[in-house]
Amino acid sequence: MKRSKINYLIDKAHSLAETFRVYLPDFAFLTVEDWQQQNCDEWREVLDLQLGWDITDFGRGDFNQMGLTLLTLRNGSLRHVGYSKPYAEKMLQIQQYQQTPWHFHMYKMEDIVNRGGGDLCMQFVWSTPDGDFDRQKRVEVSVDGRRRCIKPGETLVLKPGQGVCLPPQLYHRFWAEKTFVLGWEISMINDDQHDNHFLEPGGRFPAVEEDTPAKWLLCSEYARLR
Ligand SMILES: [Fe+2]
Repeated sequence: MKRSKINYLIDKAHSLAETFRVYLPDFAFLTVEDWQQQNCDEWREVLDLQLGWDITDFGRGDFNQMGLTLLTLRNGSLRHVGYSKPYAEKMLQIQQYQQTPWHFHMYKMEDIVNRGGGDLCMQFVWSTPDGDFDRQKRVEVSVDGRRRCIKPGETLVLKPGQGVCLPPQLYHRFWAEKTFVLGWEISMINDDQHDNHFLEPGGRFPAVEEDTPAKWLLCSEYARLR
């Protein structure tokens, strides 16, 4: 992805959050210049756990069609000593018709919530032990405590306010309809390096083309500050 697009998308993400009256923590507002003035020791948790902005096109090269804007707000780690928090929280911003591709998590259970905007459409299929689709096994999910039986690949529409709980090993994909969706993820510890399994290989973090200076750092770029 071009750096100019990433700069633009994070500016836009700030205004969308404001539109929905969602107030973000301090680290979400630190520009590259601000980071250079900070005592990074104080921010060790943010840096170690990669809290912050995460813009991805899933390695497909067409962000508007397949992509996601995330802000990791909270996380823990099984790999770093000292971060025993067993849960994570993310803001998700999904543009109209923008898709997050088929994937599942090996260990992470997550709730995906539509906090406002359009419809959040989701599909589910169980994974076989070797990572293929199990099109036979019926899917049962909890939508805000109400059990829903869904055919593999059938679309579940989450209206604003609704959320679904996804167990590990359950393939899912989602996209926004009608208009932009402000999504939220509440989950067990998030480990994007090891816990995601995508049906089609792509890439979780984008390759960045530096066509203009960076205004914001992606959470995957904090190593630059060390
Ligand atoms: Fe997921």
